[in-house]
Amino acid sequence: MRALICAFGALLITAAAAGTVAAADEDPRTPITLPADLRGTFLEHMRHHMDSLDDVIAELADGNFKGAAHVARDELVPGSGAGFGRYLPVEFRELGLGMHRAAATFADVADAVPAEPTAADWKKTIDALRGISTHCRACHASYRLE
Ligand code: HEC
Repeated sequence: MRALICAFGALLITAAAAGTVAAADEDPRTPITLPADLRGTFLEHMRHHMDSLDDVIAELADGNFKGAAHVARDELVPGSGAGFGRYLPVEFRELGLGMHRAAATFADVADAVPAEPTAADWKKTIDALRGISTHCRACHASYRLE
């Protein structure tokens, strides 16, 4: 029995090591193909996401919950309007919509924080912030631009 468990363990380790090598060699993420003229716009839009997320965090670092809500609502809730949608798989669009919705939820949560925030208010706000970044992370883990 013990030998069997050992053999099974060795098999698992070998499988895990093989998985690591494969992941390093080839990118397992689903490729997205955009027309050349939209590719640059898409990445620019992504960099704007990064800047906006950092701006939201900067407002929170200053203890400015209303400011954080304002940035999220103005910069992260709206879609790009650049017409990428028709080139993207439905699951991709769902993740994108999820991110915009999470930004709207964050804005509502941050807006509702009173002038003297409690530890619970901070926790709720950071949870809602994570609701946004989880979508960034999930999509980047699943898709790449070709
Ligand atoms: C629905 C999918 C999706 C969501 C949501 C998403 N991204 Fe991206 N993002 C991408 C893809 C695809 C790329 C291209 C990645 C690649 O080819 O390796 C990208 C690239 C980027 C880049 C690199 C830009 C460049 O110039 O190379 C940044 C920065 C970025 N995203 C930030 C963010 C941030 C911050 C968020 C969340 C607020 C976010 N993204 C949400 C799909 C997404």
